Amino acid sequence: MDSIIIQGGRPLNGTVEASGAKNAALPLLAAAILTDKPVIYHRMPHLRDITTMITLLANQGADVSMDDQGCVHVDTSTSTNPEAPYELVKTMRASALVLGPLLARFGRARVSLPGGCAIGARPMDMHLKGLEAMGAVIEVEHGYVDATVPAGRLHGARIAFDKVTVTGTENLMMAAALADGVTILENAAREPEVVNLADSLRSMGADITGDGSSNIRICGVTSLHGADLTVIADRIEAATYLAAGLISGGDVTVRKVEADLLDAFLARLRDAGAIVEVGNASKDSDSWIRCKASGRLKSVNIETSPHPGFPTDLQAQFMALMCVASGSSVIRETIFENRFMHVQELRRMGARIVLNGNTAVVEGIEALSGAPVMATDLRASASLVLAGLAAQGETVISRVYHIDRGYERIEEKLGQLGACIRRNTPHTDMFRRPESAPI
Ligand code: UD1
Repeated sequence: MDSIIIQGGRPLNGTVEASGAKNAALPLLAAAILTDKPVIYHRMPHLRDITTMITLLANQGADVSMDDQGCVHVDTSTSTNPEAPYELVKTMRASALVLGPLLARFGRARVSLPGGCAIGARPMDMHLKGLEAMGAVIEVEHGYVDATVPAGRLHGARIAFDKVTVTGTENLMMAAALADGVTILENAAREPEVVNLADSLRSMGADITGDGSSNIRICGVTSLHGADLTVIADRIEAATYLAAGLISGGDVTVRKVEADLLDAFLARLRDAGAIVEVGNASKDSDSWIRCKASGRLKSVNIETSPHPGFPTDLQAQFMALMCVASGSSVIRETIFENRFMHVQELRRMGARIVLNGNTAVVEGIEALSGAPVMATDLRASASLVLAGLAAQGETVISRVYHIDRGYERIEEKLGQLGACIRRNTPHTDMFRRPESAPI
C-alpha cells in the first residue's frame, strides 16, 4: 500500500493551479444520464472518485472516454442497465447521485445503499423521501434501493429538507429536471457545486432558478440535450495548498480559483493574522488567491456549517494550522458526528488537542514532530500532510489511497512549491522534490 513521506520544516513558496472540483465533477457526470446525447466535460480532475463514477456509468452501458487534458466524453445513449452495484458504491458514497437521474430517465433504478462511513452515519433518507414525494415507489431490500416510477414519469413536488444536504439537493434537482411539473426544494444546499450543477443542467436545456439560495425552483422539461460543461475550481484543494504555505511559514498563491468560493475560510485566516491577497480574472490573468503570514498565526475559533459557513471539508486542515498557532482554539463540528479521526494522529505528532463530543480544543505549540501516522479519511489525510510539512523530522503517512480520492497529483504540486515529499509505492520509489532540495 502506498505511503507518503515528508521531511518537514521547509517553507513552501510559489504558485500552483487549482484542479477541477471532485464534488462538482461527480454530480455533473451523473447528469449525463439525463440525456441520450453526448456530454463533454472540461477541467475534469484525475482522481480515484472520478474513475469510480466513470466506471459506474460504463457499467450501465455508457460510452465514456477521458484524455490527458481532463476532457471527458460521456454518451449514455447505449445505457441499458440502471444499476449502481455494491462493489462501486461501497468505495464512494457519492455513487448514490445516479439514483435521481436513473429514475428520471428510465423510470427505474437499483442502487446499493452506501453503508457505513468513517466520518459518520450519513444516511440517504432525505434523498429517498424526496423521490417518493415525486412519485417514486421505493423498497430497500438486501442492501439495495429498488425504485420504480409507476406513472412512467416523476412529477413535481414541494420538498423541504429537514437538514441541508448537498448530494440530496443535487439528486433531487437532477430528478426534477425531467419531471412533469414544478418542483420546489426548500432548505436546499447553497454550495458552489450545487450552482455548478444547476448551470450545467441549464446548458442542457433545464429550467432551474434560485440555485445558490435555499429555495430552488425546477420546472421539468420533456428532454435534455448534450452540452459542453466545465467543472469549477476545487475550493477545498485550493484552501489546502494555501494552508500548506501558511503552516510551513511560506508564501503560496493558488491560480484559477475565485476567492468568493472561500469567503468563510479566508475570513478566518485573516482573523488569525494571515495576509490574504486576491485577484479577479481579467483578460490578462486568471483569478488567484495568495496567503502568507509574518510570524506565527494566532488561534481562532471555528464552527462548521453549510455554505456559506465554514466548510466541514476544511475543518481538519484548519485544525492542523491551529496546532502550531499561538493561543488556544475551539473547533466545533456540526455537520458530521465523527469527523475528528485526525485528532489521534495529530496527537502522535505532538499536538495538544482535547476532544469533548463535537468540540475540539487545540492548544497551539511551537512545533510538531514528525511521526508515522495513518490516513483515515480524505480530509483527515490532508491535515496530516499539512502537519507533516510543518513538523520537525520525517512524517510517514500510510493508507494514502484516501488522499488519492480527492487530491490530484498532490506530491507533484507540493513538490513544485518546494516541499520535500515523496510517495513510496511498493516496487517503485518515485522521489519528487526540486533538484536543490536537501533531504
Ligand atoms: C457532501 C460532500 C462532502 C461534504 C458534505 C457536507 C460531495 C460528493 N460530498 O456530502 O464532501 O463533506 O457534503 O458539506 O459533494 N444527511 C441525512 N440524511 C440524508 C442526507 C444527509 O441525515 O438523506 C445528513 C448527513 O449525515 C450529514 C448532513 O446531513 O450529517 C449533511 O450531509 P450531506 O450534505 O448530505 O453530505 P453529502 O452530500 O454526502
